[in-house]
This record gives sequence, C-alpha cells and structure tokens, in this order.
Amino acid sequence: MWKGRFSQATADLVQQYGESISYDWRLFPHDIAGSIAHARAQMKSGLLTEDEFSKIESGLKEIEEEIAAGKFEFSIELEDIHMNIESALTQKIGAAGAKLHTARSRNDQVATDTRLYCRSAIDSILELISHLQDALLGRADAHAGTVFPGYTHLQRGQPVTVGHHFLAYVEMLSRDKERLIDARKRVNISPLGSGALAGSTINLDREAIAKELGFDGVTTNSMDAISDRDYIAEILFTLALCGGHLSRLSEDLILWCSSEFGFATLSDAHTTGSSLMPQKKNPDVCELTRGKTGRLYGNLISLLTAIKGLPLTYNRDLQEDKEPLFDSIDTMTLALRVNTEMIAAMKINVEACETAASDPLLLATDLADWLVKEGIPFRSAHELVGKAVAASVMQKIPLDKLDLTQVDSAFTADASSVFSLTKALAARTNPGAPSVENVKAQIARWRKT
Ligand code: ARG
Repeated sequence: MWKGRFSQATADLVQQYGESISYDWRLFPHDIAGSIAHARAQMKSGLLTEDEFSKIESGLKEIEEEIAAGKFEFSIELEDIHMNIESALTQKIGAAGAKLHTARSRNDQVATDTRLYCRSAIDSILELISHLQDALLGRADAHAGTVFPGYTHLQRGQPVTVGHHFLAYVEMLSRDKERLIDARKRVNISPLGSGALAGSTINLDREAIAKELGFDGVTTNSMDAISDRDYIAEILFTLALCGGHLSRLSEDLILWCSSEFGFATLSDAHTTGSSLMPQKKNPDVCELTRGKTGRLYGNLISLLTAIKGLPLTYNRDLQEDKEPLFDSIDTMTLALRVNTEMIAAMKINVEACETAASDPLLLATDLADWLVKEGIPFRSAHELVGKAVAASVMQKIPLDKLDLTQVDSAFTADASSVFSLTKALAARTNPGAPSVENVKAQIARWRKT
C-alpha cells in the first residue's frame, strides 16, 4: 500500500510483530458498512460514477459473504482487516477499488469500525445483563419470604430474605446497564472524514455518512477523533465493575454451597466433580467468574496504560486497544450467559436458611430498638443488650430464653416479644428495607422496568 517510498520489503519479523488481522478480522462487517457509506458519499460528490459505486458495493458485499462463510484468505502481509478488504476489492473489481481510499485513512477507518463494533457489543451486553436480572428476579420472587441471616464481616448480622439478597444484585446490574447506556452516547459519533489526522482537502458529506451508519452525529475535531480511545476505556471500566459485581455474587454462592452454609445447591449441569475425591461437587462456574474478573480489570489497565502519555495523534500503540476490548466483551458475554443459566437452575435450601435465621442473636438490634421505644437512649440500649448477650454466652442460654429482667430492670417481660422473625421482618417497612411487602413491591417494579 505504501510501496512508492520504499525500496525494501517489510521484514518478516516486523510483519509478525505488527499484524492485527489475526484478531481485527472480526471488524469486517463494520469495515464493509463504513466503506459502502464512504463510497456512496464519494459518488454523491462526483468522485465515483454510479457504475463504479455499484461495483464497489457489490464487491464489498461479496467479500463480506466470503469472510462470513470462512472462505476468505487473510494475509498478514496486508497487516489488518482494512487493507485485507481493500486489496481483495481491487483484485475483484479493478480500478474502481483503488479509488475507495480517497479522503480516508486507516486512522479514521479503524476508529469508525471500532465504534461500530462497540455499539453493537454494548447492545448485546445490555440484553444479556437483562436476562441475568430476569433470572435473579425469578429467584427473588420465589424466595421473597425465605428468611436467612444477612452478614457484615461475614458474621451474622440481622434477618433479611433471600429475595432481598438477590435484588441487591439486580440493583448493581442495573447501574452497570446505565453506565453502558451512557457510554453508548459517546461511542455513537462518527469519526469518518477525520482522515489521517487533519481531515481532507476533498470534502465528503460527513453527516450523510454518519446517518447511513446509524451514528448520532460527527466528531468535531479531527485530531481528537482519531486519537480518542476514551470510549473503549469507559466500556472496559464498566465491564470490569460488572465483573466485580458478578464475582461478589460468585463468592456468595460459593459460600452458600459449602456444607458450612448449605443455603443453596447448584445443579449438576453447572458444577464439576473431582478426578480424585468421589464426593465432590464443585462450584467451578463461580470460581471461574471470580477469576476471570482479573482479566477484565487487567484489560482496563492495559488500555489505560497504552494511551497514557501518547502524543497526538495516531501512534501505533493504539492498535493495542482491540485485544483487551474483544477479550472483555467475549469474557463478559459468556460470564453473563452461564451465570443466567446457573442462577435459574440452582436450588435454595429453605430449611438451612431458616435454621440459620433462627439464631436469636440476629434480633439483638431489635431488642435494643425495643428499649429505645421504651424511652432509653440508643447508646444505653446498645450497652444493656450487649450485657444481655454476654450473659447469654456465659450462661450458655440462648438470648431469647434468657430472663432479661435479671440483666437490667429496663427490660420487662414484654421485651421477649421481640424474638419473632415474622414480626422483625414485618417491621422493616422503610424504603429499601427487607419486609416481604417491600421485596415484592421491588420485584414488581423491576419486572415493569
Ligand atoms: N491496524 C491499525 C490499528 O488498529 C489501523 C490503523 C493503522 N494506521 C497507521 N497509521 N499505521 O491501529
């Protein structure tokens, strides 16, 4: 493509080092859509005849079909998807193909292709997140009233429901979706027409090209347009954070599936066995999700590091943007799909949940609240209940069986009315609290959303 200035062929090692076709081939539908829109604008401004345009269009469509069918031979001598397609087009249709690159550079071309790829990847990830939310909602609905302990510091804290716990993840995933929807606004702007860095002396209708490609507008600074990879960083950050959410869910499920907790059982289809220990049923999917979150974080850091300190405008470093992007999209796609299936198929062991929830210490805070309602300042109430807990531990008598009136005269016989899980939960009606009615209302709201 640049033979005019050179008298030596590119060294084999340089080709190997610099090729991106082994991974950027997947941009082909976007590259072809971009080229067709660009060629149409060339025709409209008289740079191509109608006949030349239709040769370009049908040639590109044939190439698209060949690539999709796995019949296209990529060459690393042609470095990337852009030059592979352009060269095949010229071989196919001759002179008209050689006109396609007028008023365009691979710099604005790759930025256009990547933005189109990101847009469709965001749309598909959004749908997959919704499916996972759906699966979580299904489980939340079935267990809106299944009480179990909520933890802080992995120590039993207060009673909540399994439904409330699942809804927490629906919330996190919804914020991930909002972030992706917001990032999409900045993704969906057309850089095509920015050329190598300074636009072109040949003016094509950038707005028309953008419209044909479904962009919401055109970039307004050619130097920024071809250097900008912020939109990839935003996506990688959102996927990293979403991975963080999935890894927390994974960790919860790993704990719940242990014999020590026993709150849940994953289906045989979503667990694996041990080659040595016949009894094992391992939550590998959860562990893999937890582990793969490391890749998602790594991909974000790779990109941020690649763009750090780069002088304007295009530098070849920027070619390092695509592998982290593709890897994060692929990793997240599979993670969301497998987690959706696994959540829908897992079993919640209601009895184990209820047994754990029957620990009267879960209601120690409610007992303090009872004292507060009797007019005792919370700090004193906290101390009095602390004394009662210490007495219960010392005397090996469960808190709900202890004679509280012996601990302090502030307690009356009525204090033990606190030890009812049903009452405790029903009292938690503040917005965001886990009463069964609240959880059901949230489920209904999410279903509508
Ligand atoms: N494969 C290149 C990339 O992904 C395309 C742009 C090449 N531009 C250049 N000036 N060498 O970044």
